[in-house]
Amino acid sequence: MSSFSELWAEIAPIGRADSGGYLRFALTEPELTLRDWFRAQASVRDMTVTEDGNGNLFAWRGEPWAPGTVLTGSHFDSVPHGGGYDGPLGIVSAFLAIDAVPHDRKIGIAAFVEEEGGRFGVPCLGSRLLTGAIDPSRAAALKDRDGITFGEALGAIPSGQIVQVGQLRAVVELHIEQGIALETPVGVASAIWPHGRWRMDFTGVGDHAGTTRMADRHDPMLTFAFTVLAANKEARLAGGHATVGRVQVEPNATNAIPSLVRGWLDARAADTATLDRMVDEVVRKATERAGRDGTSLAVTPESVTPEVAFDVPLADRLSKVLNDAPILPTGAGHDAGVLSGHVPTAMLFVRNPTGVSHSPAEHASDADCEAGVEALATVLTDLS
Ligand code: GLV
Ligand code: MN
Ligand code: MN
Repeated sequence: MSSFSELWAEIAPIGRADSGGYLRFALTEPELTLRDWFRAQASVRDMTVTEDGNGNLFAWRGEPWAPGTVLTGSHFDSVPHGGGYDGPLGIVSAFLAIDAVPHDRKIGIAAFVEEEGGRFGVPCLGSRLLTGAIDPSRAAALKDRDGITFGEALGAIPSGQIVQVGQLRAVVELHIEQGIALETPVGVASAIWPHGRWRMDFTGVGDHAGTTRMADRHDPMLTFAFTVLAANKEARLAGGHATVGRVQVEPNATNAIPSLVRGWLDARAADTATLDRMVDEVVRKATERAGRDGTSLAVTPESVTPEVAFDVPLADRLSKVLNDAPILPTGAGHDAGVLSGHVPTAMLFVRNPTGVSHSPAEHASDADCEAGVEALATVLTDLS
């Protein structure tokens, strides 16, 4: 049996960039290397490995998809220069935990594809496909930044919904906590805030930076800049979160007024009504500003994920077997949230001392990760 630090050290260099963060995009070389590692871990435990035609990878103790199986696991993919714990911690912990679960129990370990939406834009793509929440042909047509489609990367049109999901006894995803609310080594999730991504295309008139009079410009960068500030203000007023962390500019020249600025709004709030109001107000203000700038704005929702309330009796049961572990909500999205509409689902969080995540600075201590493995083993034994 390996210790947490031994197993963690095996994957730590895979896909690590000079920033210290990770470039582990779905179905690219580092993620494929991690999948090979997954297969090897399954093999040393005599587990059966299957793929579901959607890019998700599974290891099974017992028959694949046997009714009553408890599924655990998480994802390998990262955001650009993200931390190493977000996702892989749930998979490494699953393999270590299963070593401590009685051998006759039916357990599955999943590595879901494209959880971050870092390559193809839609988060939790694998679990959405698995549960029928996204049309396989729409998923197949999603493009990465080089124009490669998900279908091309997968080598097929995804196969879509797997009906056996509903026969699982429970799903439990272990994940690093992504805030500072958790003060004990391990906690249990209660809910995920509703959240979504909106692509905003600001179109103006490209022109010369030196010769175009200020009064004659139709500069989409101004409308964009105003919109970023408006999003920040509306989120603060609503008690929600709004972020513009990705932007494209055309032609992206120092001495040219841009013709197009494309930005992605990530917005989240504690309830759907607040989220809708917040996004509507940002779009209203941005559209009004575009009118004044002589630019135009097109908004495309790329993914919207409803509020998730995890199974209350299951969360209470986990908290109880873990000596009254605290129960807390999160603003981060997870495959467990997508699965929760189909099977009793819960999450375990491992303490993150700084709360930083989606950044190279993301960290959890080995001692807390070991506590997470132990908690997951206790929970899997209790539920299976
Ligand atoms: C996933 O990590 C998300 O919440 O964006
Ligand atoms: Mn993440
Ligand atoms: Mn994650």
